[in-house]
Amino acid sequence: MPDQPALPFTFEVLYGEGITLSQFDNHIIRRLSNMKSHFLDNAAYEAALAQEDTVLYEVYEIHRPEIPGELLHGLSIVHPGKVGNEYYMTKGHFHTVLETAEVYYCLRGQGCMVMESPEGDWAVEPLRPQTVLYVPPRWAHRSVNTDSKEDLVTFFIYPGNAGHDYGSIEKQGFRKLVVEVDASPQIQDNPRWLPPEVR
Ligand code: 6PG
Ligand code: NI
Repeated sequence: MPDQPALPFTFEVLYGEGITLSQFDNHIIRRLSNMKSHFLDNAAYEAALAQEDTVLYEVYEIHRPEIPGELLHGLSIVHPGKVGNEYYMTKGHFHTVLETAEVYYCLRGQGCMVMESPEGDWAVEPLRPQTVLYVPPRWAHRSVNTDSKEDLVTFFIYPGNAGHDYGSIEKQGFRKLVVEVDASPQIQDNPRWLPPEVR
C-alpha cells in the first residue's frame, strides 16, 4: 500500500525551566561516553568520565520520511560544562548528501556554531536567543555551549534526505576549537587538524 499523504500538523515549543516540545518521536541522549576522541584533552576526558557519565546534549526529533522534499526538524539542547578548557558541544557532522543545508533558530543560551567545508574553510557564528543561523550546503556543523550555567537550545530544520556523516570529524575534529581562556570563550587552532591535501 502506498503511504498516505502527510496531513498538516502543529506542535508547541514549551518554555519552562527547560525547553521541550509538546510532541516528538525520538529523544536522543548523548553522554560523555559517546564523545570519545571528540575533546582535545583526553586526560581531562577520561578523568571526567571516571567521575560520572554526564549527559552533554539531547535532541528531540519529529520523524519524517528521509526523502527529498521532506524537512526533518527538532530541538537540540547542549548543557553547560567543559572537558578541560573545551566547552561541551555536539559531535558535529557533514551531511552525507553534502549539498544539503540546515537552518538553526536559537531559543535560549549563549554559544556558537563551529563550521567548516571539506576544503578546510572555517567559520564560527554566534548563537544567542533570536539568532537565525544558516548552514550552507557542504558545511560541517557543531554547536558549542559557551555559557557556564544555561542550556544552549536551538530549533533545527534540514532536508529529509541529508543523512549524517560523522566519520571525518571523529578522526581529527574541526579545524577550530572553542575553549575558555580567562573566563571567556576563545577560538583556537586544533593541533590535531590536518589540511585536506596532507590527510
Ligand atoms: C542534524 C542537525 C542536528 C544535530 C544535533 C546533534 O543534521 O541532525 O544538525 O539535529 O544532529 O544538533 O548534533 P550531532 O548530530 O552532531 O550529534
Ligand atoms: Ni546537520
